[in-house]
Amino acid sequence: MSEKKRYDRFTNGKLNEYVDWLDEDGRIINASDGGIIYVDGVYYWYGMVLRPLPVAFHGQGGQTTTVGVAMYSSRDLYNWKYEKVILRSSDDPDSELYAPMRFERPKIIYNEKTGKYVLWCHFVKNPGDHGTTPGTAEAGVAVCDTVCGDYEWLGHTRPIDDDGLVRDSTLYKDKDGTAYFIYDRDVNDNRCLHIVKLSEDYLSFTKEYRRIEAAYRREAASVLYHGGYYFMFTSGLTGWKTNPAKYFRAQGLMGEWVDMGDPCEGDVTGTTFESQSTCFLPVEGRQDCFILMAERHNTENFERCSYIWLPVEFPTPDTMRVAYRESWSMEEVWGSR
Ligand code: DGJ
Repeated sequence: MSEKKRYDRFTNGKLNEYVDWLDEDGRIINASDGGIIYVDGVYYWYGMVLRPLPVAFHGQGGQTTTVGVAMYSSRDLYNWKYEKVILRSSDDPDSELYAPMRFERPKIIYNEKTGKYVLWCHFVKNPGDHGTTPGTAEAGVAVCDTVCGDYEWLGHTRPIDDDGLVRDSTLYKDKDGTAYFIYDRDVNDNRCLHIVKLSEDYLSFTKEYRRIEAAYRREAASVLYHGGYYFMFTSGLTGWKTNPAKYFRAQGLMGEWVDMGDPCEGDVTGTTFESQSTCFLPVEGRQDCFILMAERHNTENFERCSYIWLPVEFPTPDTMRVAYRESWSMEEVWGSR
């Protein structure tokens, strides 16, 4: 993990600004639409290494990776050390992972029963574009014995049935260790978020699922639990363009989700502060403190997407909101530990 202290706060910049977040070697942190997992006192930030589309693919929307999923480490969430590529795309045309391709929105959870780290993602095989065409539209899974190891690609599949294309997806591991795959299921453009219970080893889908009717034509789902409620932050379906966020609340993951409207306080542009949600990060050692990790897509050069991290507020036990901060620290918002 990083020992160099370049930062002591998060800098999102102005609403139309792209701010380069640098690792300890001064390189832009290139870990798109991923997540963070906390293991033995260290945060591990992982995400897809974005490269601008090869010229041959320009104009086809979307963007792809020719590297795979990278991982960084930190003890303080401000300063990050590049560790390695944990799941690599391939230069072998016969490989499922032949690049350019996409491990979109990768999420990692740890299985206490098997001792394995399990990664699920929205898998789009070569050429990896799915902005204009649905692409492969499958769920991909990989596994590793260590959090920052070489993840073994196990393949791809579709939950529920083959009719439902997989698009944006995320994972949620509940308090009792049960894990869920939450995804934008697309059946002939009838698109709605669904939640599917994973098997005990987290490596496959069970038949237990629910269509979240309220979350019709929503994507980029992120889930947290606070004060007896589950909160799900989502975006609308506008490709790489921004749109107003909407969140949902439930008392049970497989229960009734209620539309709670836009959580972004003062978002006068209706653009989720010119960003799109990626996931929620529970801050270790700070009870009920969560960071919304979002991303400001840079469609001119995806390698320069910038990160928008904001503290989550709970005005009442059954509501949440986020307010934009150009720059902030956990100590300012939540006090010193
Ligand atoms: C918006 C989604 O949230 C992204 O993950 C990506 O799939 C783009 N659409 C592609 O257009």
